[in-house]
Amino acid sequence: MKFDIIHKDSGTKARAGIIQTDHGTIQTPIFMPVGTAGTVKAVHQRELRDDIKAQIILGNTYHLYLRPGLDILEKAGGLHRFNGWDKPILTDSGGYQVYSLAKTGRKISEEGVKFKSHIDGSTHFFTPEGVMDIQRRIGADIIMAFDECTPYPCDFSYARTSMDMTHRWLKRCCDRFDNTQSIYGYQQTLFPIVQGSVYKDLRRQSAEFIASMEREGNAIGGLSVGEPAEDMYEMTELVCNILPADKPRYLMGVGTPENILESIALGIDMFDCVMPTRNARHGILYTTEGVINIKNEKWKDDFSPIDERLGGYVSTSYTKGYLRHLIKSEEILGAQIASVHNLSFYLWLVGQAREQIIAGTFPLWKAEILRKLTCRL
Ligand code: GUN
Repeated sequence: MKFDIIHKDSGTKARAGIIQTDHGTIQTPIFMPVGTAGTVKAVHQRELRDDIKAQIILGNTYHLYLRPGLDILEKAGGLHRFNGWDKPILTDSGGYQVYSLAKTGRKISEEGVKFKSHIDGSTHFFTPEGVMDIQRRIGADIIMAFDECTPYPCDFSYARTSMDMTHRWLKRCCDRFDNTQSIYGYQQTLFPIVQGSVYKDLRRQSAEFIASMEREGNAIGGLSVGEPAEDMYEMTELVCNILPADKPRYLMGVGTPENILESIALGIDMFDCVMPTRNARHGILYTTEGVINIKNEKWKDDFSPIDERLGGYVSTSYTKGYLRHLIKSEEILGAQIASVHNLSFYLWLVGQAREQIIAGTFPLWKAEILRKLTCRL
């Protein structure tokens, strides 16, 4: 993997860059649609590529390991071959899902995490080494270290103990990753994850430790888990000032359009979040004019396009009134149209941010667009 910064904003810490992988390039800042089980829910790969203009998607180790399982994925020739997406893929390590999904019967120890499948209740054990081997077999271009995503709120002593264990696990991840090879012939890279909850001392310590591992990119985890937005920005700023400037920085699980723009201004290059797809299925739409709840009565006879300014086939061809009908009737097409639209909006947003960084107009543009985006229509 290679990362080049092509322009730095003079008014903020924002940067525009290019990541090169064996599955193609990624122009940063970038948003990665979440494709948990090998599919971005309700969206075809062709729509992802041509309409949404996604450059990289995310998959989840936890889900893919449980179903369809690694034997099938390996037999298919890796996840890219299995799901027909030939651009870059990043897999999260399971360090988050093990905590959010497999709550009952989960047992954490220095060795790893024992958990029960949310699908059939069967027992499994994830270790840092095992999770590296699994992600090698899934075949993601960027694989994530196995960590504990500390819950919020979390007292200082738990956060410190957890962070120290995440750091020890990281050493084991790096050892395993560096002593194994890609199965499918293209390069894979490992990103470590900063933890430390909302404690400045811990975040500082974690960022310094993660930076010292000298990997090709770095991630920030344990945020957007219920803490106030100010805390999230404070931690992100502090960590960005410590992580190496010449490597991509990935803020995990973030966030709203506003969170993304504020974090780009702090020096973040990569984002993922279920918000655009999950909200789409519930009728919450992000548009260039503000946020819409399409289920509201007021849209029932509004025959204007979902979002003319956004461009793109789905956003300009279907009307608000029709989409309201589909979502209210729980028609599958409603989820499809809303998901393609919301993801198109997120990719448009980061694409615009990139253009404005390059043009030297990012701070002004950000202030202006935020006024609109925070409107509830
Ligand atoms: N996704 C969102 N936050 C996190 C985190 O802290 N760790 C991991 N592995 N994934 C995440």
